[in-house]
Amino acid sequence: METKTSKVSIVGAGAVGSTLAYAGLMRGFARTVALYDINKAKVEAEALDLAQGIQFMPEATVLGSNDVGVVEGSDVVVITAGAKQQPGQSRMDLAGATISLMDKVLPPLLEAAPDAIYILVTNPVDVVTYAAIKKSGMDPAHMFGSGTVLDSSRLRHEIARECDVAVGNVHAYIAGEHGDTEVALWSSATIGGLPLNEWKGRDGKVVMTEDVRERIHHDVMRSAYTIIEGKGATNYAIGAAGARIVEAVLGDQRRVLPVSTLIEYPGVGEVCMSLPAVVGRNGIEHQVQVPVDDAERAALDASAASIRETATRFGA
Ligand code: LAC
Repeated sequence: METKTSKVSIVGAGAVGSTLAYAGLMRGFARTVALYDINKAKVEAEALDLAQGIQFMPEATVLGSNDVGVVEGSDVVVITAGAKQQPGQSRMDLAGATISLMDKVLPPLLEAAPDAIYILVTNPVDVVTYAAIKKSGMDPAHMFGSGTVLDSSRLRHEIARECDVAVGNVHAYIAGEHGDTEVALWSSATIGGLPLNEWKGRDGKVVMTEDVRERIHHDVMRSAYTIIEGKGATNYAIGAAGARIVEAVLGDQRRVLPVSTLIEYPGVGEVCMSLPAVVGRNGIEHQVQVPVDDAERAALDASAASIRETATRFGA
């Protein structure tokens, strides 16, 4: 199987990068996992700590280095390096720092791993992905962002809890920005083939009323803020989500995932934002045209405009 011989490199050995490596190793997503970070002591320590757990995971080799050469021969490169969101900061507040970081980080990576599929996780992920595509000249199918895969899993988790059903049976997407303007696509959400707004509880009453939907959307959108307030960073869910995206690529799984891709948004122009897409060995295989109602369309318009505005403000 292809995944057995594959190499994944993770740029940035912070909480997100290291947890993504851990989640992926536990699932056996690649034969070689390389961590690359400018902090030598940190990256070597994270790699050693991960490697010492391999006995309890599918077989793999873990490398860690502050030399970019460690990423050579990668099939997938995941970029998590960047400024950390502080309590009260929005992801967009990080744009200046993280966009200029891409100027430094990308050229040596592209030289060492020119044929890899690149997955951006660094925030604000939509703006950073856009800047990275423009700076690198990469095929946009081969460079995309983790987008709202995480937000969608947060949404599904909340819906599953509310409806008392397994999360795997909930199909629902958050689209648009991975951030404050993200949009819950309620009109296409289903549980077991039933439109979400028809799902009834044991009492025979519709569960997902407008009030419930509003509360859930708010909680999902605020999740990162809540978690950062409590523990300083988010890492587990984004780590698991990132590992799942890598797996979709390496295993050519053709999974429908709301990743952040370069699109021409009508009336706004070029932006990277999340809409469900089929993800496989060639990266973005194709976009899925999910139906949206008028309210969702208007919210997506606003989300695209907000991403475009930040990108323009930071010269991307
Ligand atoms: C979050 C970070 C990864 O939403 O943006 O948890």
